[in-house]
Amino acid sequence: MPKIDQYRSHFTAYLESKSVVKEPLNLYEPMSYILHLGGKRLRPVLTLMTTDIFGVDYKKAMDAALAIEVFHNFSLVHDDIMDGAPLRRGMQTVHEKWDVNTGILSGDAMLIYSYTLLESYPDSSYKELMHLFSKTALEVCEGQQYDVDFETRDNVSIPEYLLMIQYKTAVLVGAAMKMGAIIAEQPKPIQEAIYNFGKYLGIAFQLQDDYLDAFGDPKTFGKQVGGDIMVNKKTYLYLKALELGNSIQKQELEHLFSIKPVDTSHKVATVKELYAETGAVVHTLKEIERYTQKAFSLLDELPIEQSKKEMLAQFGTSLMKREV
Ligand code: IPE
Ligand code: IPE
Ligand code: MG
Ligand code: MG
Ligand code: MG
Repeated sequence: MPKIDQYRSHFTAYLESKSVVKEPLNLYEPMSYILHLGGKRLRPVLTLMTTDIFGVDYKKAMDAALAIEVFHNFSLVHDDIMDGAPLRRGMQTVHEKWDVNTGILSGDAMLIYSYTLLESYPDSSYKELMHLFSKTALEVCEGQQYDVDFETRDNVSIPEYLLMIQYKTAVLVGAAMKMGAIIAEQPKPIQEAIYNFGKYLGIAFQLQDDYLDAFGDPKTFGKQVGGDIMVNKKTYLYLKALELGNSIQKQELEHLFSIKPVDTSHKVATVKELYAETGAVVHTLKEIERYTQKAFSLLDELPIEQSKKEMLAQFGTSLMKREV
């Protein structure tokens, strides 16, 4: 069985073989640009790995893996417009390098392209894959809408936040794995177990993303550190700091999240101090661990060898330790 980085390099080679830049260049160049900026390739690796652990040739899952990665990259291009983000994977975002209209249309084209990649599957799995893909895509839109709505709401609860990240992030990780199980023709209960494994891993992943957005190293993170604070994102760190802080800390945090100063450095530094002083940071790191463990507890339900369970667990653990 291949190692994790082997899945990644096989996937990258496939992506390369499928890539074409043609006229109109302002549509296709941005697609190629974002897809070649790299990234962790977490979701396609999970699709390939899932097909493989069920004893089916993972190459069969290549188109599904590519569909997931192209969809993910589409969502990033539009997300960066919505979040006003200047940097992605250490480089200019598409709407900064070109413009917003280019980002909208090349994003749309990537979404459509991702669907066409599923056409290579036989009728029996095609319908199941399409159903899951569309359901997931719509949920991602719902999550993204909640995320933006929450920026200007001051009464967001932690359960609301958790549902928001389940939709914007975790369902795609779950779907990436479930597609691998569909291609391996696994029974429904197994598909569900693997979906939930991915979903819990995805929740931990987004909590970690929120943490890194504030406390990541600008040299390695590849995105603008403090970006969530600048646009008043109601992250887990923020909501937990409000819950744990004393009335002065709470008041200061609420004030800082009601303004958008031109010079953001003081705001970002003060908010980060509040996240640390209130204990929100420690609590967030514990939650990342808790959701990862929750994912691991589902491994018992899978009819696969211990060594394969260990590989999935190893992958989950490595995500928890990531700095990118
Ligand atoms: C970024 O996803 C968007 C989130 C859901 C947090 P990744 O962190 O997987 O981004 P890349 O593909 O590795 O750049
Ligand atoms: C991204 O959430 C979720 C989707 C792209 C659907 P974020 O806005 O936190 O992702 P990053 O931090 O920009 O990668
Ligand atoms: Mg963003
Ligand atoms: Mg966003
Ligand atoms: Mg983020």
